[in-house]
Amino acid sequence: MNYDDLKIPTHVAMILDGNGRWAQERGMSRSMGHEAGFENLKRLSEYIFSKGIKVFSVYAFSTENFKRSKAEVDFLMNLFEKKFKEYADLLKKKNIRIVFSGKKEAPLPDGVIEITKEVEEETKDNNGGIFNICLNYGGHSEIVEATKKISSLVKEGKLAVEDITEENFYHYLFQDLPPIDFLIRTSGEVRISNFMLYQLSYAEMYFPKTYFPAFDTNCFDEAILAYNKRDRRFGGIQNDSKNS
Ligand code: FPP
Repeated sequence: MNYDDLKIPTHVAMILDGNGRWAQERGMSRSMGHEAGFENLKRLSEYIFSKGIKVFSVYAFSTENFKRSKAEVDFLMNLFEKKFKEYADLLKKKNIRIVFSGKKEAPLPDGVIEITKEVEEETKDNNGGIFNICLNYGGHSEIVEATKKISSLVKEGKLAVEDITEENFYHYLFQDLPPIDFLIRTSGEVRISNFMLYQLSYAEMYFPKTYFPAFDTNCFDEAILAYNKRDRRFGGIQNDSKNS
């Protein structure tokens, strides 16, 4: 689809939901759903950046997801260890910077932590877009960690309490990204599940019933058309579309 005459959100975020149900409805194992989800994310992220979206955030694995069966967690971590570098190379060639939000520590396996650090380092100078992957991520934890960073700076005399603002608070979050304009959660669930709570304050939200592995580029086009029909007021009264 041609995006030329459309409002393009700067920051799109996605909760990748429904891999398990997609697979089960096809008589496949949940793991196959995750594999299909991974392949879909590859296609979709390339498409999204090709349309001029500057920041794309995805909820790949929450801190709570560690409560799943060991077999499912191991499968997802192995998938990442085996396949993520190749995926990152693809985005690297498109000048995309890859960053990870979340705690880079156990229970994430060492191999996964190492890859996240390598990829961040290898892509840090890219400026064609930012792909933010939330891994071992929780929204409350992000705000608490930011508060701790700020408190330490204040204690050390490096930051004045009066200088803490709503705008510069972003700087202390896991990654310093612009606010989210558009959130998509696939699979028909209508909740935020502790995802990017600070950044979502004025996001438009879209909840298609499609399971993530089936949410293809045509579904994304439909989502963008829906976004273009929204009247973003940011708490104001009139149509104020200064911020796409
Ligand atoms: C939610 O579906 C999906 C996840 C918990 C994992 C998402 C992961 C990927 C798409 C692949 C990994 C990608 C990276 C970059 C690591 P679900 O299992 O909750 O599905 P269900 O609600 O149908 O059970």
